[in-house]
Amino acid sequence: MNPLIERLGIRHPVMLAPMGGEAASAALVAAVSQAGGLGILGAAYMTPARIVEAIAEIRALTDRPFGVNLFCPQAWQRDEARLAAFIEALSVYHQELGLPPPQVPQRFEESFEEQFEAVLSADVPLFSYTFGDLGSTLTRALQARDTLVVGTATQVREARQLEAGGADAVVAQGAEAGAHRGSFLGTRDEGLVGTLALVPQVVDAVHIPVIAAGGIADPRGVRAAQALGASAAAVGTAFLLADECPISAAYKAALSEAADSDTALTRAFSGRWARGIENRFMREMAPLALPDFPIPNALTRPLRQAAGKAGAAQFLSLWAGQAVPLARPMPAAQLVATLASGWQAG
Ligand SMILES: Cc1cc2nc3c(=O)[nH]c(=O)nc-3n(C[C@H](O)[C@H](O)[C@H](O)COP(=O)(O)O)c2cc1C
Repeated sequence: MNPLIERLGIRHPVMLAPMGGEAASAALVAAVSQAGGLGILGAAYMTPARIVEAIAEIRALTDRPFGVNLFCPQAWQRDEARLAAFIEALSVYHQELGLPPPQVPQRFEESFEEQFEAVLSADVPLFSYTFGDLGSTLTRALQARDTLVVGTATQVREARQLEAGGADAVVAQGAEAGAHRGSFLGTRDEGLVGTLALVPQVVDAVHIPVIAAGGIADPRGVRAAQALGASAAAVGTAFLLADECPISAAYKAALSEAADSDTALTRAFSGRWARGIENRFMREMAPLALPDFPIPNALTRPLRQAAGKAGAAQFLSLWAGQAVPLARPMPAAQLVATLASGWQAG
């Protein structure tokens, strides 16, 4: 009996963890869902119109359940001195890649309200969120339309808060995980509990299903998640090498060459702590006092896009978790089947 899986009506307790930005792909989400797992679309950087379009693309490719993920809105301030220093530091890399000088964009992020409205009105089977607590009003609005609501926690007290807000399930995101930390309470280090320690403690603390995430990349990881009491395993990094994942060749090459100790936490690309393969941009920007998220995220976008095209991995956000060496190129359906083989029936 696995209430989460039964409620979703999926065959395998394996989820494509939401991956926003370059890795977000309707084709990848649909391939995972079609293979009996649950694909979750990382829609955080999409315009509301693109969200509607991507959901339609998924539905055209599969009639299986899927999810959509957004970032909870963050309080942030525009500090002009930090912004100017960041632009100055960034100009060096722009020059190196032959790009025009960095420009301050008209806006730094999409409107969460409009993104949320786009997801809400699409009646998706599952909505997941990170970086905060969605709160009971929006949670209930989704649930009233039969959408399952999943929050992200990186420590026990975050999981308890999400449960109190009415979430149907919680992702326990361990410190090993690739890309942004979902943390929203306390310091960075308080939110860096490893998956092996975090999952059973969250399972003990809440009464809702727990989805394990962070460092799960093969059937052994899935089996471990099950043994720790999780109701499903969510896998991000390992899917970056899936055939359907549209990231640049330079990013895929860096993932294929990475060792277990090659990732580090950085705020340099986005202003929020995230794990990626350490590169020159991360090292050189580390001493800088950064503007708040999402300012750096918007400002580094032209550099990241140009670097992807030029094959300049030193300037790419090479988001990856500590299990990255376990990732292998293969069709997403094969990875779903491989991962699912780790889950013991019965
Ligand atoms: C490239 C990339 C992008 C990500 N983007 C998001 C996102 O938009 N929203 C989110 O909730 N989590 C995001 N994550 C975190 C994953 O959902 C998940 O927690 C993590 O990948 C699990 O650890 P693993 O990478 O070791 O499998 C991202 C992860 C990666 C690798």
